[in-house]
Amino acid sequence: MLIKLIFHIIFLLTILLPNIPFLLARDDGLALTPPMGFLSWERFACQTDCDRYPHSCINEQLYKDMADRLVADGYRELGYEYVNVDDCWSEKQRDSSGRLVADRKRFPSGIKALADYMHARRLKLGIYGDVGNLTCGGYPGQNNHTAGGHDYYDLDAQTVADWGVDSFKSDGCYEEPLDFDRLYPKMDKALNATGRNMVFICEWPFYQYVYRNMTPDYEAIAHTCHVYRSYKDVVDSWASIDEIITYYGTYNDLFRKYNGPGHFSDPDELTIGNWGLSWEQSRTQMAMWSMWSSPLYISTDLRKLRPEFKAILQNRAVIAVNQDRHGIMAKRVFADTNRQVWVKQVEPVVNGQWSYAVAYLNRELLGDAIYMSHKLSDLIPDTKPGVKYEIHDLFLDEGKEILGTITRDDQLELLINTAGAVRMVKLLVK
Ligand SMILES: *[C@@H]1O[C@H](CO)[C@@H](O)[C@H](O)[C@H]1NC(C)=O
Ligand SMILES: *[C@@H]1O[C@H](CO)[C@@H](O)[C@H](O)[C@H]1NC(C)=O
Ligand SMILES: *[C@@H]1O[C@H](CO)[C@@H](O)[C@H](O)[C@H]1NC(C)=O
Repeated sequence: MLIKLIFHIIFLLTILLPNIPFLLARDDGLALTPPMGFLSWERFACQTDCDRYPHSCINEQLYKDMADRLVADGYRELGYEYVNVDDCWSEKQRDSSGRLVADRKRFPSGIKALADYMHARRLKLGIYGDVGNLTCGGYPGQNNHTAGGHDYYDLDAQTVADWGVDSFKSDGCYEEPLDFDRLYPKMDKALNATGRNMVFICEWPFYQYVYRNMTPDYEAIAHTCHVYRSYKDVVDSWASIDEIITYYGTYNDLFRKYNGPGHFSDPDELTIGNWGLSWEQSRTQMAMWSMWSSPLYISTDLRKLRPEFKAILQNRAVIAVNQDRHGIMAKRVFADTNRQVWVKQVEPVVNGQWSYAVAYLNRELLGDAIYMSHKLSDLIPDTKPGVKYEIHDLFLDEGKEILGTITRDDQLELLINTAGAVRMVKLLVK
């Protein structure tokens, strides 16, 4: 009996092992799967000239339009529920009582009305601030080095809570990254004290790593932030996506340890639907962000999105991998100069055997499609003899078709296009 019990405990531990990040999670029940929605920065940046750019400047109409598209075009039902305002939304001056004020020309109805607009449509509103003196665009931040030790963390947290905001992003401009270990928890405490649930998005590790060459304290970060930007801002190019994929490969073991329900490493927005990525590269961004269990923040003009890009963003099978409740980040199990293989444990689990999502990536920029072939047991040493998996190509009719079956001694061979193309399959345990 004792032996059996010990066996059970060991067995349980084995099953729970990939979920150890659970222990690090915040206990507020927020962001148990990676948040999904719209975020304006990459596509719309800090355009404040609404006379010249009436349809793409940062104003309340932009966010209402995006909300309308999320609802009418079916995104909301797939999980895209946050509409996140980024930089450049406020006045440059606080009001006479020190409170933040939305730009009076561009947000004439105010942020509370915008939050109400989202809530009436079963959406959520996110807004943006900065743990430093100023935001990156030069708007008031939560610290103020000229105010003689006075700061605005508590007042601003209360202000956005009063407005009914559901998510708060804290940038790190105009502040010393060495102080982030103190300032991000301070902002978190201020948000918590309001009593309103808000997803807290940090840029804590990014600045520390990129600007101070520090090793960020990921344990503290995962305790404090629901979402934390780990690397540079994404821009609209394959070079940017490729660099992020390389970074996530280099730090794979570290990032895997601190990714899970309630605390997700954030590789930044999806730029799918803009000008920089080919159709194949767009699928690759969607695939990799899903393999990593990363937040899916769309940053494109949903009013003008071409159907082939919309289909990528709305691929149910890929989204299901992203939203798998265990939130396990894929492991990079093979990499040479141009080819990579990533493997992620996903549900369903049958008799203790996981199913897997597998991505084959081809970064070669020359030539026609190539075959990549790996023995399953090389990719997934844990697979037991005799266990059979159905192979589903997730970008082929959303994985509905069964391409074949595979066991541990078989080769998983797939034909991959070039120039940043991916094949993503699910190995569904039988
Ligand atoms: C505040 O923090 C406590 C302790 O971590 C947590 O249980 C609670 O859910 C948080 N409340 C809010 C509104 O964030
Ligand atoms: C903080 O912002 C003020 C403007 O409000 C500016 O005068 C000052 O130089 C800034 N200080 C730092 C450290 O960035
Ligand atoms: C910082 O504080 C000073 C003094 O209270 C104030 O005049 C200034 O507007 C504040 N700056 C920002 C960016 O909030």
